[in-house]
Amino acid sequence: MHVGPSIGNYDVLSAAVQPNIGFASPEFNSAMKSSLEGLRYITGAADSYTPFILPGSGTVAMESVMSFIPRNSRILVVSNGVFGDRWEAIMSRYPVAIKVLKAEAGKSVSLEDIDHEVSSRRYFAVAMTQVETSTGVKLDVESVAKTVRNKVDLIIVDGVASIGGENMQAARWGIDVVLTASQKALGAQAGAGLLVASRSAIEKLREESISGYFADLRNWSDLMNKFLAGGGGYFATPPIGTVFSIQKSMALIRSETIEARIKRHEICSQAFRAGISHMGLEILASEKLRSNTVTGVIVDGIDIPDFLQRCMKKGVEFGAGVHPAFRDRYFRVGHMGWVKPEHIITALNVIESSLEEIGKEVGHGSALAAEEVFSKHHEI
Ligand SMILES: Cc1ncc(COP(=O)(O)O)c(C=O)c1O
Repeated sequence: MHVGPSIGNYDVLSAAVQPNIGFASPEFNSAMKSSLEGLRYITGAADSYTPFILPGSGTVAMESVMSFIPRNSRILVVSNGVFGDRWEAIMSRYPVAIKVLKAEAGKSVSLEDIDHEVSSRRYFAVAMTQVETSTGVKLDVESVAKTVRNKVDLIIVDGVASIGGENMQAARWGIDVVLTASQKALGAQAGAGLLVASRSAIEKLREESISGYFADLRNWSDLMNKFLAGGGGYFATPPIGTVFSIQKSMALIRSETIEARIKRHEICSQAFRAGISHMGLEILASEKLRSNTVTGVIVDGIDIPDFLQRCMKKGVEFGAGVHPAFRDRYFRVGHMGWVKPEHIITALNVIESSLEEIGKEVGHGSALAAEEVFSKHHEI
């Protein structure tokens, strides 16, 4: 139950293992088409949005948004942690001016601060992170979009740790760019960065580019439209196996429905946190900001790497803490992708017994606290 790659599904992961299928084959073209259409479906993007699947990872998708941004633009970054800060790290390589609003660990930048900032200066774009993987904090991107929509040209959301496990309505909420990665809540093989871009974002590709070569979406947009039309083509070698894995993931998401999938994530995350609270442990994210996909658990007075090793020996992998303010005091749990109640129960039992082994008394019964949540939800 790492924060990524997330909980796997045999059919989705094994779909990547094919005889050597070429990227010019009808099978690959068809896998790209259904994956691109699936991407629109899970992000709430209208047909007017162009979906992209790029070789690489979430970071490539992040960097590719520089294709939409003119030289000397001013960009507001809303950062709730390490991955929000990554926007700054990427954008500072380009000729743009960046202002970063930062939240304390476990908290979120407030709507008032965002509103104040976009009202006091002209910003071309606002970039934010829906679920901050370093803390598990969920940003209310719908409200942020509403607040800034009439004041900026481009609204960009990093949904790497949220798309497929949290609600996203790109078209309805007026978000121009939503991006993700194959290995997170999509639960597919690693190897691709994915994004959808509104018509207004795509129109900006007509202007002069400050982006580099590989991640310049000018090189990719016509190709994506060819896949959508049932054809194919080449700009750079695509992650062929990963695309077959994404295709399978999208097919399973469609049969489950995105609404039911998000509900499953919500119930599993609630059950997990009920178990953690039963142990008397603290959750890093403030109560109203907790996400469906990631939870940071604070445990003081133990050696976290040793604890994580013990959990690993019992067959469950969690993520180490990465937020500098809490680094040695917490670990991160990804409850996303193909998460089911049995994963939550196993995770809680493993946490409980590993803590007991190292002399941290947390009592028993956390799995029962989680079962109580599941017993109220028969839909999963
Ligand atoms: C919110 C968020 N954004 C961006 C990234 C970077 O994605 P990748 O590691 O796929 O490049 C991650 C990775 O964990 C993430 O969680």
